[in-house]
Amino acid sequence: MDFELTEDQRLLKEMVKDFSQKEIAPQVKHLEDNKEFPDEILAKLGEIGILGMTVPPEYGGSRTDYFSTMLALEEISKVSSAVAVIVSVHCALFCHAILEFGTEEQKKKYLPKAAKGEIIGAFSLTEPGAGSDATNLKTKAEKRGDFYLLNGTKAWVTTGNDAIAMILFTAAGADSGNKKLNAFIVEKGFPGFKISRIEEKLGLHCSPTAEIVLEDCQVPQENLLGEEGNGAAIAFNSLDGSRIGIAAQSIGLAERALKEAVQYAKQREAFGRKISEFQAIQFMIADISTLIEAARLLTYKAANLKDRGKPFSKEAAMAKLFASEAANKIVYQALQIHGGYGYSKEFFIEQLYRDARVLSIYEGTSEIQRLVISRHLLKEK
Ligand code: CAA
Repeated sequence: MDFELTEDQRLLKEMVKDFSQKEIAPQVKHLEDNKEFPDEILAKLGEIGILGMTVPPEYGGSRTDYFSTMLALEEISKVSSAVAVIVSVHCALFCHAILEFGTEEQKKKYLPKAAKGEIIGAFSLTEPGAGSDATNLKTKAEKRGDFYLLNGTKAWVTTGNDAIAMILFTAAGADSGNKKLNAFIVEKGFPGFKISRIEEKLGLHCSPTAEIVLEDCQVPQENLLGEEGNGAAIAFNSLDGSRIGIAAQSIGLAERALKEAVQYAKQREAFGRKISEFQAIQFMIADISTLIEAARLLTYKAANLKDRGKPFSKEAAMAKLFASEAANKIVYQALQIHGGYGYSKEFFIEQLYRDARVLSIYEGTSEIQRLVISRHLLKEK
């Protein structure tokens, strides 16, 4: 594997870095403090092609290799992990699922708007009683003529309240709990679709997380995604790719934590010296940097396998597991370097510390990643 970025990848990384500094950074505090959805930023990300990175040009997108999408997520996450997860869910779950499993009509209807940011997409698999146990869904879909009637409650939907459309999963068939799922493209405006709650969370405040109640929600038959009963494969195939995105998000956040820690250590004095001159601090910085590099290699390898059409499910789970756990260790140490000031909202590390915590939970907990990895290994060996 060549670790040198191509000219296109380097230019893209620079462009997203520049955008993030100029357009996202000045807004972060206001958006986070006010729990405000970053719709203007997303509109601009649509204009510069970032929301269409997994969509081919024939559907209005700016499709790049997956590796480049990861570079973009990393850069965005250095400035706002919340914006990064909205983009990741939109590109790697919503657009990907329609592109891979949608009919020609579905692709033509949703992808051009999604690529431009006119539709922000979400992905609704989890339910109050089914997170890790994702095939144990209770939401039902009954066929009634040209419609399906959906009934149930969906939980922890990233961008749920602001997403205009989402890939939403239900149990398939008459009895739930048979592991067979259906996938639908559900629009916010469909009758019977209601946002019932916005979660109060530890971090990622400008990325709202919704609970959705479906009461006889009418979904046209043509919005069934893929075959009846094939929803689990759609969910897990999509999650394989998007978990690399969460690994990239973790790396961006961790890089920022390193930068904050180094800057602080170089200006803070104790015992008559800059604290960066103490070996205890130097060792922490060395450990942080080594963890980031290792996480990056796993992440780039998984993205590279995906780009080359090779199996990558195990490697994606490894990248997500390692990078998200590393990010949590890193923010702990980076905050420790800040001492008491790190516990204050005055310093950005306080937000990074909170934002990091969910990385090892959403899109499959660390325990689920270990399950995925070990299942592959037990089959392979
Ligand atoms: N690709 C394609 N198909 C796959 C697959 C993959 N990687 N993994 C499994 N499947 C298929 C299986 O072949 C099976 O198909 P059949 O029914 O046709 O045989 C079906 O999916 C069910 O698979 P399993 O029997 O392996 O399912 P399981 O119930 O044992 O669950 C699991 C496996 C790994 C625990 C899975 O449930 C899982 O990944 N759980 C975590 C869920 C998760 O990541 N949730 C995140 C929610 S989305 C989110 O967080 C986004 C956000 O908002 C930020």
